[in-house]
This record gives sequence, C-alpha cells and structure tokens, in this order.
Amino acid sequence: MAGNAAYDWDAFDSDDYLAHNYAELHDEDRRILEIVRDFLCGQSFDADTRGVDVGTGTNLYPALAMLPFCDRISLLELSEANRRWLSSQLRCCSENWDRFWRVLAEREAYRTVDRPRDCLYRRTSVQKWDILGSVPDTQWDLGTMFFVAESITTFREEFTTALQRFCSLLKPGAPFVMTFMENSKGYEVGGRHFPALGIDMGDLRDEMCGLGYGMEFHRFGVGPEPLRDGYSGMILVHGYVK
Ligand SMILES: C[S@@+](CC[C@H](N)C(=O)[O-])C[C@H]1O[C@@H](n2cnc3c(N)ncnc32)[C@H](O)[C@@H]1O
Repeated sequence: MAGNAAYDWDAFDSDDYLAHNYAELHDEDRRILEIVRDFLCGQSFDADTRGVDVGTGTNLYPALAMLPFCDRISLLELSEANRRWLSSQLRCCSENWDRFWRVLAEREAYRTVDRPRDCLYRRTSVQKWDILGSVPDTQWDLGTMFFVAESITTFREEFTTALQRFCSLLKPGAPFVMTFMENSKGYEVGGRHFPALGIDMGDLRDEMCGLGYGMEFHRFGVGPEPLRDGYSGMILVHGYVK
C-alpha cells in the first residue's frame, strides 16, 4: 500500500505509455469518445469557455473532445516527463490522433474546427498541477479527468480527495466527464510499477453523490484483448458539478 507521493511521477515513461495505450484506437476508447462527444454536443457553451483536463499524461483525446467548445484548454499534469511530452506533442501532434479525431468528427460540431492540430496548439497550455494539493483560486467551465483519481494511489482517502479537488476546479453547474479503471491492481509503464486503487461502480456512485448532479454512469467490460492485466473494466461518469 502506498500513496501518491511514494511514486516517481517525473520518471513516467511517456513514450511507453503512449505506445501501449494510444498508438492505436482501441474499442473501449472509441466507446468513450462517442459518449463524451455526444454529451458535449448536447451542451451549450459560451464563446469564452475555458476547459481543463487533469492528469493528461499522454492522452490528447479529452482535449480533442473539448476543442470545438473551448476558447482555452488547460492541461494540468504533475509529471515533468509528461509535461515535456505534452509541450512537444502539441507543437506537432502525431498521426495516431487522427483516428481519434475521426470518431469525434462524425458530429458536425467537430467538422467546423478549422485545422484541428493548429487549433489544439493555439488553444491549449500545459501547467504543473497536483490534484491532491491546494484548492485553486480560479475555476473552469468544463472539465475532464481520465484514469487519474484511481490510478495515482492505493489510498482511498487520496481517491476521494482527487475527486473533490477535481470538482472544486470547476464552476457550479459546469459539465464534466471522468473515466476510471475498474478493480485495477496497478500498471507498468516502462518497467516501473504505478499504483491503483481497486474501485467499482458502487464506490464511484457513493463518492460522486455529494459532488455532482444529472450524472450518467457507463461501464465497459474487458474485451477479448484487454489493454492491461489486472482490471475488470472501465467506468465513465458524466454530469454537472454541484
Ligand atoms: C494512469 S495515468 C492517466 C493519463 C491520461 N489521463 C490517460 O487518460 O491515459 C495517470 C496520470 O496522472 C498523473 N498524476 C499522478 N499524480 C498526480 C497528481 N497528484 N496530480 C496530477 N496528476 C497526477 C500522472 O503523471 C499520469 O499522467
């Protein structure tokens, strides 16, 4: 058992994580993209909407999903390695992301984005952030946090704190989307072990009932070729911050 601070996040092997998880578009990610896309297309946003993605790692699809609706997008990340990776990727986004964008572009709102790569570069900024740290003095209008709260610790209290802090980054009423590994036992990145807390739908519903409203929960079982060992599925929740 170990908490977030016991792991060397600055040594996270960004390229290995990307190669393992996002070099190809997996079925689970396609399903997630479709749900996020349709949820966001059903909202109305002001022209100056500011989005935030927490613990971005090497996953650009939450930011891509928010792109048509946001004037600015902040990518908040603790790991120096991942921040470096993000800064260089945003300058020249690799081809694998086209497969993710094509799913989004099945809806008109995404097709109106002129040159998505340039747009992503212009609208995003990368910032050092500890989701278990202090409460921010600024709040965003829309937020995503994918595979972070349960995948940065084995401590239940830190999972709870990550969810609370994520919600406190957002204005009351702001739409959000979060995803989780279900019953994860942790994961290897570049030969290093990183932690996870084994959570399920019941745990998530308990945690979220005081934090959000209008929520929908989705569960995806493990397919024939699971991405990693030691988990039983993925969970997505979307809704609005209380
Ligand atoms: C399992 S990865 C998920 C990455 C990405 N969001 C995805 O969808 O694949 C967990 C991410 O959380 C970041 N992280 C770890 N501890 C954090 C903290 N205290 N605050 C913010 N981010 C953290 C890691 O650097 C890593 O990028």
